[in-house]
Amino acid sequence: MIIAIDGPAAAGKGTLARKLATEFNLAFLDTGALYRATGLRVMRNGTDLADAQAVAAEAQNITLEDRENPALRDEATGDMASKVSAIPEVRAALLDYQRNFATNPPEGFFGSILDGRDIGTVVCPNADAKIFVTASDEVRAHRRWLELSAKDNTVQEAVVLAEMQQRDARDAARATAPMKAAEDAHLLDTSNLAIDAAFDAAKEFVSSKF
Ligand code: DC
Repeated sequence: MIIAIDGPAAAGKGTLARKLATEFNLAFLDTGALYRATGLRVMRNGTDLADAQAVAAEAQNITLEDRENPALRDEATGDMASKVSAIPEVRAALLDYQRNFATNPPEGFFGSILDGRDIGTVVCPNADAKIFVTASDEVRAHRRWLELSAKDNTVQEAVVLAEMQQRDARDAARATAPMKAAEDAHLLDTSNLAIDAAFDAAKEFVSSKF
């Protein structure tokens, strides 16, 4: 069983994917973390974004430590992740790892669930269930702002909204594996759904594919 969860920033993909993973005993891979770890390495090492091979080498050299670094969740890292993810060589460097995880999940799991931007379209086009999670820009920015302002009360919601829209536009416009819903994806708009209701809707859809 392979489940693909895609959608724009702060749509609630990660929360949903984690809950579905527990519900159906699936191994979970947050693919955004791979791009974030690459972005973190690029920032730390001062790697030239114009040098595609050098940035792809950073993707190849990601360590577990990079993937667990608390700075992974910073807005600056998300923005850099979006920039490196537009480089085809970087996407190619991360593709095998993602596909291998999807088809060979660790022992004891019934299958796998991956969340990202291109899981249903490129990484796992044959996934058993695909969900494209969306919510209005304002709702997503508000959710992200609530998260960020818990740590920093100077964060402005309008700035969060503008930066999120810029990142989504970049992710959707890139030539290689742009963010988009697969033709056979189930659209789940969580604008007016609390997490439990969104989870129930996703669970029902996934159950229908078993
Ligand atoms: O889901 P996230 O916010 O952690 O993702 C960070 C960036 O990584 C996102 O702006 C685009 C990129 N990304 C991607 O291009 N493909 C994926 N499958 C996952 C993330």
